[in-house]
Amino acid sequence: MRLEGNRIVLMELTDGDTADIVRWRNQEFVRRRFLYQEPFTSEGHRSWIKNMIETGKAVQFIIREKETDAKIGSVYLRDIDRRNLKAEFGIFIGEEDKLGCGYGREAAELITDYGFSVLGLNKIFLRVLAENERARKSYQRAGFTEEGLFKQDCVLNGKKQDLVFMAKFAGEKRAE
Ligand SMILES: CC(C)(COP(=O)(O)OP(=O)(O)OC[C@H]1O[C@@H](n2cnc3c(N)ncnc32)[C@H](O)[C@@H]1OP(=O)(O)O)[C@@H](O)C(=O)NCCC(=O)NCCS
Repeated sequence: MRLEGNRIVLMELTDGDTADIVRWRNQEFVRRRFLYQEPFTSEGHRSWIKNMIETGKAVQFIIREKETDAKIGSVYLRDIDRRNLKAEFGIFIGEEDKLGCGYGREAAELITDYGFSVLGLNKIFLRVLAENERARKSYQRAGFTEEGLFKQDCVLNGKKQDLVFMAKFAGEKRAE
């Protein structure tokens, strides 16, 4: 399965992507922006594939840049809740020179469209560290709006951090 965008394509994740996923997710500029900051391992990722992807609890794609055909990161919907028609969005671009090029926004638009039209979801939400301004901006440009600020919601490396919840709903107009 592939989701075609203007400058990127989302390719369904395969086991062959494991080394890239582990490398990207362990990059310092990625890892320290996630709530789960333990190092990623191939074993851990394969167990995620087995328990989450293969059981339909999550869908995950590789982000491929069309211009170079290079794989640059990954985007997913997790904890797909078919009763309440919602799921949680996650993303990382692991190639540092590809940050801030609009790819995150496009990947978010493609996977949320897929979540609404193919999976039949009503709500896609995300949690982001308040200090991650680039991510918040990208999500906002992809049509997510802020639902709430949760103050001092987690402690990472000894620092109390605020969390922002954002969401996007089926049938909402596309952001300009
Ligand atoms: C978060 C992430 C997916 C966003 O994707 P991206 O392709 O880098 O971001 P985009 O280009 O779509 O959008 C970034 C926006 O923030 C702006 N921006 C860039 N750096 C910024 C900064 N330091 N502070 C504020 N805004 C910034 C850009 O100008 C752009 O806004 P614009 O479209 O109005 O010009 C990507 O940066 C990433 O993977 N980062 C590392 C891991 C991470 O943070 N993951 C998310 C955890 S919740």
